[in-house]
Amino acid sequence: MATSAEAIVDLDAIAHNTRVLTRAMGNAALMAVVKADGFGHGAVATARAAVGAGARWIGVTSAFEALEQRAAGLDVPILAWMCGPQDDLTALAEARITLSVATLSHLDAIAGEAERRGVALDVHIKADTGLSRGGAVRNTWPELFGWARKYESAGQIRVTGLWSHLAIAEEPDHPSLAAQRSAFTEAVELARAAGLTPVMLHLANSAGILQLPDTRLDLGRAGIALYGVPPAPGSDFGLRPAMTVRAGVVQAGDGRAVLPLGFGYGVPRRLGGVAEVLIHGVRRPIVGAVAMDHLIVDTGELPVTEGDEAVLFGPGDRGEPTVVEQAGLAGTNPHELLTGIGARLPRRHRQHTEA
Ligand SMILES: Cc1ncc(COP(=O)(O)O)c(C=O)c1O
Repeated sequence: MATSAEAIVDLDAIAHNTRVLTRAMGNAALMAVVKADGFGHGAVATARAAVGAGARWIGVTSAFEALEQRAAGLDVPILAWMCGPQDDLTALAEARITLSVATLSHLDAIAGEAERRGVALDVHIKADTGLSRGGAVRNTWPELFGWARKYESAGQIRVTGLWSHLAIAEEPDHPSLAAQRSAFTEAVELARAAGLTPVMLHLANSAGILQLPDTRLDLGRAGIALYGVPPAPGSDFGLRPAMTVRAGVVQAGDGRAVLPLGFGYGVPRRLGGVAEVLIHGVRRPIVGAVAMDHLIVDTGELPVTEGDEAVLFGPGDRGEPTVVEQAGLAGTNPHELLTGIGARLPRRHRQHTEA
């Protein structure tokens, strides 16, 4: 019997997915991307499961997310790629967070912090190779690399990585890939010409790791695949979806069941009238509008009583919809649906449940 609504997170699935991804990376390292509270799965629990299964880096965006990992005792290298000069550089330096840098003002601020501390701080420089979503743009590379080298000589900075992000890794033949790959090669050559020796070169996200060998380089940054969602159409890549959202029926009768799930928990309103849930192994439609706290299921002739379990999405093994299916019906992607499942929905982490 299911008593209330919850998101069950299968940490064994996250460990399994980590192993699929580390296998693809071969001798190179895997980064577990746990931004946005681990895509809604719980950032710390996800990071622990992934590191336990072989991930060697943790990737986050903000200072808050980075410091949360250290405070929880995660000790592997952490890269944070959405910090700026305004962030608490002292706390970040104390926590040994590797910062991604794309501007001179950020580099200057980190060098200033390093000078005050009397130690060199590690950075990864992000180059924009065509995505145009952050990263140093082409015409700033010579100056940025030159200053980075000066700060290295002064013992303030160590440029341990150079990286970029792919725009369309899910389509192996997309022309942007070759263009980004060649722009990245140019960035690496310019950095080396400036005297920098970044040892971690990285480009690949989940789709790159799993299907574009020439983007794997030294480090692969896995987000969506870590959570078991195939990053490209046409294959499940051997991944296992980690999250199940389910609820116990709170009221049943007249061919209707009321579930304590709604848009206030992150269930998209657009699922009303188009999506189904699984009850007693049978798919039944969601009818009417998804409200803030409820959704209504047409149970037809199915004998449903209070406390019976209804599954909104899960791995799909029992015939329930997957997050990919529900996201498609909601007109969004699985990333938005997963990260939108809010803190109001309790997470229950399960581990070592494999037979
Ligand atoms: C910089 C960066 N790298 C890697 C990832 C992970 O991407 P994916 O979820 O496609 O694996 C993200 C997430 O969007 C990202 O922002």
